[in-house]
Amino acid sequence: MNDRVFIFDTTLRDGEQALMASLSVEQKLRIARQMARLNVDIIEAGFPISSPGDFESVATIAREVKGPVICGLARLIEKDILTCAKAIKSAQRARIHTFIGTSAIHAEKKLHMGEEEILDNVTKHVKLAHRLCDDVEFSPEDAGRTGADFLCRVVEAAITAGASTINIPDTVGYTTPEHFARIIDDLFKRVPNIGKAVISVHCHNDLGMATANSLTAVSHGARQVECAVNGLGERAGNAALEEIVMAIKVRKDLFRLSTGVNSKEIMRTSKLVRDICGMPVQANKAVVGANAFAHSSGIHQDGILKAKQTYEIMTPQSIGLKEARMNLTSRSGSHMVKNRLLDLGYHERDFDIDALYVRFKALADKKGTVYDDDLITLIEAKSGDDLGDRFVLEYLNVSSGRGTVPTATARILVDGKLFQEAACGDGAVDAATKAIDRISGYKLTIENYHLDAVTGGREAQGRVLIVGRSEEGTFTGTGTSTDIVEASALAYMDIVNKIARMKRFNRKLPASRIEAR
Ligand code: KIV
Ligand code: ZN
Repeated sequence: MNDRVFIFDTTLRDGEQALMASLSVEQKLRIARQMARLNVDIIEAGFPISSPGDFESVATIAREVKGPVICGLARLIEKDILTCAKAIKSAQRARIHTFIGTSAIHAEKKLHMGEEEILDNVTKHVKLAHRLCDDVEFSPEDAGRTGADFLCRVVEAAITAGASTINIPDTVGYTTPEHFARIIDDLFKRVPNIGKAVISVHCHNDLGMATANSLTAVSHGARQVECAVNGLGERAGNAALEEIVMAIKVRKDLFRLSTGVNSKEIMRTSKLVRDICGMPVQANKAVVGANAFAHSSGIHQDGILKAKQTYEIMTPQSIGLKEARMNLTSRSGSHMVKNRLLDLGYHERDFDIDALYVRFKALADKKGTVYDDDLITLIEAKSGDDLGDRFVLEYLNVSSGRGTVPTATARILVDGKLFQEAACGDGAVDAATKAIDRISGYKLTIENYHLDAVTGGREAQGRVLIVGRSEEGTFTGTGTSTDIVEASALAYMDIVNKIARMKRFNRKLPASRIEAR
């Protein structure tokens, strides 16, 4: 049997169905282009009959995106299939994916059809789809709750009519790995022409088993998995693409299979989908969550410092992340704290780790996570260094609004001298931080932005917390104002001053110590 598993991405179809607002043609095209970079085998670009916008999206992706097969969804109805064929016609490689409910519940309650009528429809409409497109996929919807005998008859009829991929959906996420394996085994055993089609699976996550069910099916002979980035999809979502791909890669010893996906593009794809779809990714989400490569426990951090494989089954680099993150918390050991300080450019001579560690623990108990700037403050407070702000925001003017390019002008006192810069940005906060960057000369990336209302009513004070990363380390900044943009600029300035303080401190260190960073 072939050892290649095809990855069929349905983020733009099943995934998009679950969003509060549908995506524009341009947004879908951006995601599809990234899917091509990720090198998925098939992109299900949409459901062309569902709306003129979806038709346009599928047609545009078919025209513009090269590489993967571009697939459109159609109910097992003539007008759906004709519309779908039209939408995908300019694709380099096109596929029609057609489906009909086959479980007794769907047949009786939704379709009001008997088994024979469903079978006739399968034959008639899969033939029609095949006349319009060489590559036809057929799905017996709710296969997970379809009787075994009828499922075998439907699958055989679809293959005879020209379907070259048979997708077995667990539409309502009802099956378990053992149950799903039995369904797949049954098809391989009982459908005489099964060898003429690729068996695909499409699992929903209602009981949290979508990935496990899909992978079990793969172990039992399925060679296409339908999945969505970040596990998007109806209700609890579809099997997550990143989990399927990384499980097959990391456990090659078990599966002895591979996908064509460029796993280094996973993180970039996940973030793009998150941002365009407006669907946040939970921090502890497998593979792409913010904590998926973050180590917090002292025992784990100690292990990682000794050998990464102690607590990492895959490298952050393999999904396109730069490095794992070590969270300094009250559970971190003194070894980890010392290590971070050495990374920050300090020398063992600069601190007494036992004394510092006691103060670190007290701070961590209060704060939760201790960031680089907190550590620096702990050391500097001891050294009696001048902690004054080098940069002082004197003036900020921001203009933004509908149809306006957001622009900001900042005036900042630097060591007593006034500097002024202006910048444009994606939004008011972006423009303000860019203007500040021009004056400070620091390169800062905002990793996290959090806004809280600290008082009530219309004039509520907003408190902004920013976590920023620069080549000097990771810093937090806070700013409070009744104006959100000003609160953001103040939080940003807080970080800029922390970097300045750190640089000032490092200037006092012997050159060799600074170079060692
Ligand atoms: O969940 C499902 O059954 C589907 C089909 C259209 C494949 O999304
Ligand atoms: Zn689905």
